[in-house]
Amino acid sequence: MSGPLTEGSTTVAAPAQLVLVVDFGAQYAQLIARRVRELEVYSEIIAHDVSAADIAERQPAAIILSGGPASVHVDHAPRLDPAIFDLGIPILGICYGAQLIAHQLGGVVGRNSQGEYGRTVLTRGRPGSLLGPDAPETQTVWMSHFDGITVAPDGFVGCGATPNAPIAVLENDSRRIWGVQFHPEVGHTPNGMALLRRFLHDLAGCEPTWTMGSVIETSVDAIRAQIGPGRAICGLSGGVDSAVAAALVHRAIGPRLTCVYVDTGLMRLNESDQVVETFQKHQGIELIHVRAGERFLDRLEGVVEPEDKRKTIGEVFIRVFEEASGGIEDADFLVQGTLYPDVIESGTSDAAKIKSHHNVGGLPEDLQFKLVEPLRNLFKDEVRQVGSQLGLPDEIVWRQPFPGPGLGVRIIGEVTVEKVTILQQADAIVRSEIAAAGLEREIWQAFAVLADIRTVGVMGDERTYAHPIIIRAVTSDDAMTADWARLPYDLLESMSNRIINEVDGVNRVAYDITSKPPGTIEWE
Ligand code: XMP
Repeated sequence: MSGPLTEGSTTVAAPAQLVLVVDFGAQYAQLIARRVRELEVYSEIIAHDVSAADIAERQPAAIILSGGPASVHVDHAPRLDPAIFDLGIPILGICYGAQLIAHQLGGVVGRNSQGEYGRTVLTRGRPGSLLGPDAPETQTVWMSHFDGITVAPDGFVGCGATPNAPIAVLENDSRRIWGVQFHPEVGHTPNGMALLRRFLHDLAGCEPTWTMGSVIETSVDAIRAQIGPGRAICGLSGGVDSAVAAALVHRAIGPRLTCVYVDTGLMRLNESDQVVETFQKHQGIELIHVRAGERFLDRLEGVVEPEDKRKTIGEVFIRVFEEASGGIEDADFLVQGTLYPDVIESGTSDAAKIKSHHNVGGLPEDLQFKLVEPLRNLFKDEVRQVGSQLGLPDEIVWRQPFPGPGLGVRIIGEVTVEKVTILQQADAIVRSEIAAAGLEREIWQAFAVLADIRTVGVMGDERTYAHPIIIRAVTSDDAMTADWARLPYDLLESMSNRIINEVDGVNRVAYDITSKPPGTIEWE
């Protein structure tokens, strides 16, 4: 091993055409960027204080200005460098982005008597290029605004209106600047994708060439260029991100990649066998399988406090990984499954620390490796597509998120081998019932938690005094917020019956009906 850790080495070659999504806050920019990519055009998100010179240097094929929570009239409202409007690059403003176009180019953004939130009806105005010649007379669009454009800037025309937005579509064909007050990126605007497609493909001339096939090809070339004749190692967690990163790097450098899988003994039932089977046997990847369960359990003896548990598991993990990887001679590169949302969010989040997630199951920053991060430009759904195209099985590609400390944070109180066995069995039943009900892809996570209490029950004629299992199932888009899943009663009943009948040491099952916030998804 040698060389410093290089921050954020990009291992995905830049595609020919780029769309920049200028972020004016809230959650809109990521969704827009994903929609652009669904239309097979590569997009990146950029902060709103970007200068015209920076934009000109990056030569995007188009720019989209996102919505945001501000009003153009408040002090310090985010603005766009006005010189960007003169670059001749096609621009589409959405909601706040459209208001900003009007406001900065000499139109008027007024306060309406009332805002518009939710579905509303857009009525086509004079024929325009953005809605296109085939646009219906009226269509449903989704709105979320208070301010609205009341006077178009010189040279612009309004081509559509809703009850509370007299200029809901704004156009200037010769300057190649368009705006919409509604949100084409959300599913509640049925023709939204058609509008984005028209802007990107027809008006801005973007070619639909960003496919996962092309991503694999360019990534493989970029990985080869970065690693050269070197060797790389990759820590596999069993999760989709590290799995796809490893499969991609393996395609690029073959046997010069070695994966390390640390079996903490806190994995789900049969999970370790499946990881070994998939990577070693099917993908032919060299894999070091470290069975470290005993070591983890020894160190966890007497540890009950959640943060202490995470810290302990994290420390043992790093030591075990270092020992295993130290034996791999000449490995200069460490493969990591960093995703684009991590890149966007890193450094910008000042949210209070609720749990020390990223220190657990992760690696310290002073490891002397150069980073290979082939998924740095991809969203999760794209990573899944790449994984499938690389031949990874659905069980890995569609695996639910699983915390680094594993079952350790789903066993409340001290972790023992007996409790791990109980929880593994109960958890396997929960997941298999969810799969049998066909709900796997609708549910963000479904798992079992073992409480540190015992309750009285009666089985046969015998009094029992055993542990309860709590079933936790949530729906979510990104784990930042989550809703408890409304599972059908008969599904809950079969989970409960099976757990009590099949798992020794459990005599009661409860269902957690707490959303996040106020709860977190995991119990610790
Ligand atoms: P919470 O419990 O904070 O979890 O609502 C949000 C998401 O993060 C996962 N999680 C973790 N992931 N290391 C991880 O890699 C961790 O220590 C960790 N703790 C929680 C959790 O499963 C959920 O998807």
